[in-house]
Amino acid sequence: MRLGNHTFAVAERSKGFALHLPGSDQKDTASLFGETTGDVTDKFDRVTWSAGITGAPILAECTAWIEGSIFNRFSAGDHEAFLVTVVDGGPGVCHGRLTLPDVSDFEPGHSAE
Ligand SMILES: Cc1cc2nc3c(=O)[nH]c(=O)nc-3n(C[C@H](O)[C@H](O)[C@H](O)COP(=O)(O)O)c2cc1C
Repeated sequence: MRLGNHTFAVAERSKGFALHLPGSDQKDTASLFGETTGDVTDKFDRVTWSAGITGAPILAECTAWIEGSIFNRFSAGDHEAFLVTVVDGGPGVCHGRLTLPDVSDFEPGHSAE
């Protein structure tokens, strides 16, 4: 399935992923990633990050993170699933966790079509 958002196109040519748990005071960071699109905004120019083992960007500010190396992928209905082997991870400098109800007012920055 071909999906439209910028992140999916990047994921398709990537060796790995980084998954971040945002802190309870990181709504602005969540908005940057969820309400803007990499088609027009360089999101990684607006946060501090470093490349992980797989080359995936690791954010300097988060509550926790893991990095995974992609070894397979498959269609999962309206999403594409990437299977990863976790290769690194740890705690971050932030505290608490931003949850879905905290961002219920967000508008996606890009259509998935
Ligand atoms: C809470 C939340 C969850 C989201 N989950 C997904 C998702 O699972 N898959 C997806 O394609 N977009 C999802 N989105 C939408 C994208 O994050 C959003 O359209 C973003 O602007 C895409 O940016 P990009 O074009 O740089 O990838 C979600 C947005 C929010 C706010």
